[in-house]
Amino acid sequence: MKRMLTGLQPTGEITLGNYIGAIRQMVEYQEKYDSFIFVADMHAITIEQDPAELKKNIRNLLAIYLACGIDKDKNTIFLQSENVYHANLSWMLECLTPYGELTRMTQFKDKSQKHKSFSSGLLTYPVLMASDILIYDTDLVPVGQDQKQHVELARNIADRVNKKYNKELFTMPDALIGTNSKKIMDLIDPTHKMSKSSENKNGVIFLLDSDEDIRKKIMRATTDSDMSIKFDPDNKPGISNLINIYSALSNLSVSEVEEKFKDSNYGTFKASVAELVIDTLRPIKEKYEMYQNSSKIDEILDNGLNVTSKIAREKYELLKQTMGLTR
Ligand code: AMP
Ligand code: TRP
Repeated sequence: MKRMLTGLQPTGEITLGNYIGAIRQMVEYQEKYDSFIFVADMHAITIEQDPAELKKNIRNLLAIYLACGIDKDKNTIFLQSENVYHANLSWMLECLTPYGELTRMTQFKDKSQKHKSFSSGLLTYPVLMASDILIYDTDLVPVGQDQKQHVELARNIADRVNKKYNKELFTMPDALIGTNSKKIMDLIDPTHKMSKSSENKNGVIFLLDSDEDIRKKIMRATTDSDMSIKFDPDNKPGISNLINIYSALSNLSVSEVEEKFKDSNYGTFKASVAELVIDTLRPIKEKYEMYQNSSKIDEILDNGLNVTSKIAREKYELLKQTMGLTR
C-alpha cells in the first residue's frame, strides 16, 4: 500500500475552500493509502504567532480533521512539533541544500516581499516540509497547486542526497493534485481565492460559521446582472463559484447543476446553495463540539507520536550515520 502524507497549518479558522480543496480529499484517500495526517505547527511559526492563539488553533484543527471524517483508525494523526526528528533531519538537509535553491521558491519570494522583516525560517520552510515528507518514505503528497513547487524541492533533495552518498536513503515522493478538486473563490471578490487571511470575512465561509452567517454571506455573494445560471468563470465569476460550491457538495457535475437551476433566479439559486452548505456543515459542527471537549484528541496524538517517532528516528539515524555524525 502506498504511503501518503499531508498536513495543514494551524493558522486561523478553516474555510469552506480548505474543506473542498484539501480535507475532503484526505477523507477520500484514507481508504486507499497508508495515510499520515498531521498539523504543521512548526511551519506556522515561520510567521509571527500569538502563543495562546496558536495553541487554540492546533486543537481546533485536530477537532476539525476528526469532525470532517478523518478516521483515527485509518490514519496516523500527529502533531509535527511533538516529533523532534522532523526538525533534526531538516537541519541536516538544510546543510545539503544550496541557499539559491531556497531563495528561488515562489512562496518565499511572495511572503518575504509582503513582510518588512521576516524570519530565516521562512526561507528554510520548504526544507522542513521535505523532511516531513522524506522521513516517512512517503510516496504521495496531496497538496494544492501552491505547494507543488515544495514537493518538487523535496524530490530534488532526495535525489541529490541519494546520489551524493550513493545509497537509496530516501523514497522519491510525488505530489498528488486532485483532478476534480475545485478552487473556491471569495464570495465578495470572486476573482480571488477564498482564504483564511482575507480582510473581508463576509467573502469567506468558515466551517464553524452559524447557519445564519452562512445564509447571509451566500445571499450577499457578488453576482452579475445577466440573470442566467451558467458556468462562465471569466464573465460570471460569482455565479460560477456558487455553481462550483454546489457541484462539489452535491456531487452533481457543473452541467447537472446548470440544468437543475435553469429556470431559477439568482435568489432561489443562492438560497439552495446556502441550504446545501448548511446541511453539509451541520454534522461537522456537531462532531467538532464533541471532539473539541474530549480527551480523544490527546489519545490520538499520543498514539501518533508513538508510531511516527519510531519510523522517523530510524531515518534520522540513517542519515546521521551516513553523514558521519557519530562517535
Ligand atoms: P491554506 O489555507 O492556504 O494554507 O491552504 C491549505 C490547503 O487548502 C491547500 O492544500 C489548498 O490547496 C487548500 N485550499 C485553501 N484555500 C482553498 C480554496 N479557496 N479552494 C480550494 N482549495 C483551497
Ligand atoms: N506547507 C504546507 C501548507 O502550508 C503544509 C505542510 C507542511 C505540508 N509540511 C507538509 C503539506 C508536508 C504536505 C506535506 O499548506
